[in-house]
Amino acid sequence: MRMIDLIAKKRDHQVLTTAEIEFIITEYTAGNIPDYQMSALLMAIYLNDMNHDETSALAKAMLNSGEVLDLTMIPGIKVDKHSTGGVGDKISIPLAPLVASAGVKNPMISGRGLGHTGGTLDKLEAIPGYNVDETVEQFIEQVQEHGTAIISATKDVAPADRKIYALRDVTSTVEAIPLIASSVMSKKLASGTNALVLDVKVGNGAFMKTEARAKQLAETLVEIGRQNNVPCVAYLTDMNQPLGYTIGNALEIKESIDVLRGEGPEDVTELTLILGAEMLVLAKIADTTEQARTILEGKIKDGSALAAFKQLITDQNGDASIVDHPEKLPQALTTLDITAKNSGYITGMQTNDLGLASVKLGGGRAKKADLVDPAVGIVLHKKIGDSVKIGEALATLYLNAAAPQEVQDQVLNSFEIGSEKPEPLTLIHEIIH
Ligand code: URA
Repeated sequence: MRMIDLIAKKRDHQVLTTAEIEFIITEYTAGNIPDYQMSALLMAIYLNDMNHDETSALAKAMLNSGEVLDLTMIPGIKVDKHSTGGVGDKISIPLAPLVASAGVKNPMISGRGLGHTGGTLDKLEAIPGYNVDETVEQFIEQVQEHGTAIISATKDVAPADRKIYALRDVTSTVEAIPLIASSVMSKKLASGTNALVLDVKVGNGAFMKTEARAKQLAETLVEIGRQNNVPCVAYLTDMNQPLGYTIGNALEIKESIDVLRGEGPEDVTELTLILGAEMLVLAKIADTTEQARTILEGKIKDGSALAAFKQLITDQNGDASIVDHPEKLPQALTTLDITAKNSGYITGMQTNDLGLASVKLGGGRAKKADLVDPAVGIVLHKKIGDSVKIGEALATLYLNAAAPQEVQDQVLNSFEIGSEKPEPLTLIHEIIH
């Protein structure tokens, strides 16, 4: 088999066989197919799609590119959550310690920023010392003892995803259903989880901009889970504005701490509780999501969730004193307010552009080898439905260098201001079992 022929096949709208997909993944993981050929194939998949069998074969090949963790020595049903990616989507960070404090065993293998979206690992690395590269043994021990660990896919777990993910991020090949589905499911199935809650984002800040595409992705993910005996529940959730008020790594850690203190923004808190409640039901810790929610609210109120976050940070070598002293998180040198040019109501937000603006400030990557600046980002002062007066701050940029005019304009133009107060957005669009 030759990669050049397989690229041509996909370019010409033909269907790749399981053997061909296995060849591509095995050889690319082994370093025998160069990035430029893989990039061409990814673009062909992006443009010409894959059918159901190809997508399942891709997910399986990526899963089998490395080690599949055996967590059977940890008693109980292991449950994880994964988001398809959004702007300001820091949910995993408060969620993991919250559900761990309620008794869920949550082995979480997460990703880095992709395109305009942030990544849980980049956010956690804003915590001084936090190590995302644990060994499998450390990961298992930590989940067993304290209920949760959030790590990067180790070199041994779904290594194909690690390489392909980084390549997609810099080749404009992210928003393809087969690529997202295989990426998510290869990592999650390899982590040894027994059940999975999927947060499939839909809207102008998600990879899936329309309800129909998001639903198709959700159904693909749930089906791959079913084929692999991992029950999945997918929530289609709104991404037509950022989650919470912060975009940027250290800023989002601070907002996550607020959630665990019971002082977080309503949307982030609500989504954390909804997804967490589903995890408790899948783990058979609660019979209903209502019962589960009451348990989780109790864990926030009595401080157990916050204590579990400190434990998680300590377990992964981080400085847990940032929880009580968030000023110890990396701080930007300077700030700049972006002010409204007219008065009215915020009627819409260009969420994708807000994510990109944060990336351009240094909060994400434009090239594979780029370093991420943990301190920079954007704090929003207004969201959809809020009233605004001319001259009032819409957002504040957190900067370690002068903000390019292009970024300032991008943030300003991300806020649509109209005269009529819009209907509030619905956070949960649909649930797919
Ligand atoms: N999350 C992932 O893990 N992979 C993707 O491709 C998109 C979101």
